[in-house]
Amino acid sequence: MFRKYLLLLIVTFSGVSSIFAQDQLLVNAYNRTTTSLNGNWKYIIDPYENGYYNYRYEPFDQQEHPWASAFFLNSKPKSPSDLIEYDFDQMDELNVPGDWNSQKAELLYYEGTVWYKKSFDYTFTKKEHRLFLYFEASNYKTEVYFNGKKLGTHIGGFTPFNFEVTDLVKEKDNFVVVKVDNKRLKEGIPTLNTDWWNYGGLTRDVKLIETGSTFIQDYFIQLNPENNQQIKGYIQLKGDDIEQQKIQLSIPELKINRRLKTDEKGFATFEIPAKKVQYWSDENPYLYQVILETKEEKLKDQIGFRTIRTKGTQILLNDTPVYLRGISIHEESPLRDGRGYSEADAKQLLEWAKELGCNYVRLAHYPHNEHMLRLADQMGILVWEENPVYWTIDWENPSTYQNAENQLAELIARDKNRASVIIWSMANETPNIPARNNFLNKLAQFAKSKDATRLISAALEQKNYKDNPLIRTIDDPFADQVDILSFNEYIGWYDGLPDKCQKITWKIEQNKPVLISEFGAGAKKGLYGDKNTRWTEEFQEDLYVQTLKMIDGIAKIQGISPWILVDFKSPRRVLPVIQDGWNRKGLISNDGQKKKAFYILQDYFKKKANSE
Ligand code: GCU
Repeated sequence: MFRKYLLLLIVTFSGVSSIFAQDQLLVNAYNRTTTSLNGNWKYIIDPYENGYYNYRYEPFDQQEHPWASAFFLNSKPKSPSDLIEYDFDQMDELNVPGDWNSQKAELLYYEGTVWYKKSFDYTFTKKEHRLFLYFEASNYKTEVYFNGKKLGTHIGGFTPFNFEVTDLVKEKDNFVVVKVDNKRLKEGIPTLNTDWWNYGGLTRDVKLIETGSTFIQDYFIQLNPENNQQIKGYIQLKGDDIEQQKIQLSIPELKINRRLKTDEKGFATFEIPAKKVQYWSDENPYLYQVILETKEEKLKDQIGFRTIRTKGTQILLNDTPVYLRGISIHEESPLRDGRGYSEADAKQLLEWAKELGCNYVRLAHYPHNEHMLRLADQMGILVWEENPVYWTIDWENPSTYQNAENQLAELIARDKNRASVIIWSMANETPNIPARNNFLNKLAQFAKSKDATRLISAALEQKNYKDNPLIRTIDDPFADQVDILSFNEYIGWYDGLPDKCQKITWKIEQNKPVLISEFGAGAKKGLYGDKNTRWTEEFQEDLYVQTLKMIDGIAKIQGISPWILVDFKSPRRVLPVIQDGWNRKGLISNDGQKKKAFYILQDYFKKKANSE
């Protein structure tokens, strides 16, 4: 109760300013006590941010006594003479989760602010428990308010965040107001220019998470990369009583039942002998039930134990060389328009990848929803996850770097216990200039500091070797910072025609595993013709035939992830009849039909798998 009054004091003095910084992420939101806030939310389109700024362009939420016209107050007239020029409850509704672009025709191209409001009652299962408001993702800049109080701000469109609301929630008539602004920004991550649709809004699940008064905030449980007969990691408690707390870590199937005790910071580490582990792999995606039990909580997770490392030009999964038969994927639903967010979306995309013969996917160009990773764990699909440092970022801007680092930290925090994730990608197709090299070097070091067990990469660009256009190489200082050298190439599409592939030789001088992270060609499903006619299925099919032949001649290639599994929406792709706002490099059309090139790659992967 004391905490409640203390907070009240703070609120009184600091008005409604942001008294809650974003809390550290609650790991494993999936297996906690949650109440979904999904469903219909009221919304107001606010291109002038009239509900956020007064006429002097001062934010209402930084004022001692904000005007009733501040939308986050969810104001209602108290007398017939009151002047209030908005009313959430008379507004139309948006479904959450879901981008707004695909839900309302007038929002298809909208870039700006939309306000959301949801009302609900809440009863704690135990009165001493704590409550968090958890967003799986919101694109792009999100201001969150709870019962008229500002909780804080999150920047980044593809990673989860949460705020504690324990001392603000009431039994009845709570309301959450969220301002989401998807304007593209020069200093943003990503920046102004992308080849994908700028889907805005509460694009993934929103939920309330109830925890003990002392709760498990974070944990990292994995096979020791240096010793595959040992499980190691840490557990972090937060809350009122974290010192010298007992935590029971058990993995029943391995007959592991270890009692841990936290230090003065609520932190406990462990190294546990594990003799008979069934290692997780693409061929045997074995998951163990892991149970963490404290005096107030019992948290379960499904974790695969494996090692991933490189040795010379090989990628070793559990010390066995693995070839990554992959495909790139954007996060668009195969079942409806717009952003993917559901388990059904993830299942369809990954089943198509499996049907193609994949044991690997490149989730481009930003963190996808958590269903993709948990299903990849179950299906035995290795994963490349990527931070949205894409093309022409504002390299010299310190807050842009901090933003990139924050988003990467949130990605690693969320997925560090997922066996399927083997690669953290720092960027895609960024320029080889000093400012970018400093930016990415720092980011790669940061990633390693957060998780030394996975491999670092980035989709680099290839170039002529010593100005000879028929010899290609990777000449990029960031190639020295990565564990896996990856590059995109579009010979035959942006660079000559498919038969040019047979005229090119490659000189890759780095002694590292090499992936081709993108190649491809556009084709309109159902458009047939000869293979020299661009946009026909035959052209795309021939590009794959020629490219795969070329790739077979490059010794160090340890995997590919062609661009891309499914056609996807992009404002850059405006060729009438053929594109109409879609990037057509998919092997599957946006209405789920496979193109001829699908079967070329499927056949190639089948031969690859049989030759292993
Ligand atoms: C680039 C980029 C993709 C883009 C693709 C294309 O390599 O990485 O995001 O969609 O090429 O031009 O289709």
